[in-house]
Amino acid sequence: MIFNRIEKWIADLMRRSYIMHRIIFTSSFWWNRTRMKFWYLLFNKIHLFYTEVVVTTNCSLKCKECYEYVPYLDKVHQRFMSFENYKIYIDNLLSNIDSLKYLRFLGGEALLSKDLDKFLQYALEQKKIKKVSLVTNGTIELSDEIINVLSKYPKKAMVDISNYSSNEKLRPRLKEKAIIKKCNENNINVIYLDTLEWIDISKVKYHNRSIKNNEKYYLSCASVCVGIHEWNKEAGEICAGVFPCIKAGIFKLCDIGNQKESIDYISLSKPVSKKDFIKFYFNNNFDACQYCSYLEDRKKRISPAEQIEDGMNVENKLYMEKNNK
Ligand SMILES: C[S@@+](CC[C@H](N)C(=O)[O-])C[C@H]1O[C@@H](n2cnc3c(N)ncnc32)[C@H](O)[C@@H]1O
Ligand code: SF4
Ligand code: SF4
Repeated sequence: MIFNRIEKWIADLMRRSYIMHRIIFTSSFWWNRTRMKFWYLLFNKIHLFYTEVVVTTNCSLKCKECYEYVPYLDKVHQRFMSFENYKIYIDNLLSNIDSLKYLRFLGGEALLSKDLDKFLQYALEQKKIKKVSLVTNGTIELSDEIINVLSKYPKKAMVDISNYSSNEKLRPRLKEKAIIKKCNENNINVIYLDTLEWIDISKVKYHNRSIKNNEKYYLSCASVCVGIHEWNKEAGEICAGVFPCIKAGIFKLCDIGNQKESIDYISLSKPVSKKDFIKFYFNNNFDACQYCSYLEDRKKRISPAEQIEDGMNVENKLYMEKNNK
């Protein structure tokens, strides 16, 4: 019980402040790993801490430095998750675990998904999931359907709004005041995220690090943003997995690198076993990290959500030359 309280307090701090987020990030990563192993080895239980679901790669904004590379995605990679597939992923994720502390919905812009109320309802109904949050860029108001669903679970549901108010050009498009008002009126927990500083993302490139250095890189990144992503395959095929971070999911979607099932990601096409989780969570050598410059990028701070305007000549940061690995 006391551990639950401490974890909730830490998670709230991380959601509110970027600096606290960075300070707590690494310790949280190690704490969650230790805790996971402890429960598994002693009681054969799997308690997951945090997972994100990317419900769409479409967005209402075109942020030049989006670390998900959303504005650089080809048409074929701009997709919406269907509710039917989503249910399969959640069922397969939950089938053998004992609890998941946080499930967070995002995109692109999650509010563009027409089934978002159903996605949220399904997650909120699951006893194994303890908290459900929705993150939005604040450009789209919450529909009555979404408000109805969230307000039924005042202790479990919350809304996180990325704070892009320092971006003057964007201000006329931001509806965060209306969103906050509606949430307050309906007793929905809402947080204005501290996203006033962004990191300047580099173009994707292959780093060719040794296994040891790639492991070191991942452990310094200490990603806790484990994410559920879909990728394109023939219609009807189930292609989704749990990735070490949302970037890794984007790389899979765009065929960047060579991510291998049960090492670089866990497939959600079938129920995930406890052993699969342990193997994945204790891997340190992820293929996606070979293409990532996060540790160098995070030293460069910029203002958030600068937009790619029509006619702007902007280098595509996502797609690599074919001969660059
Ligand atoms: C990729 S966005 C998706 C959700 C939604 N579209 C939004 O912008 O809030 C998830 C989070 O990543 C943050 N983010 C995106 N690019 C970033 C960057 N270059 N540096 C820091 N945070 C970033 C956003 O501010 C947001 O809080
Ligand atoms: S960071 Fe910007 S472009 Fe990226 S998903 Fe959020 S709003 Fe869209
Ligand atoms: S791909 Fe980058 S952000 Fe993702 S886990 Fe690896 S180092 Fe961290």
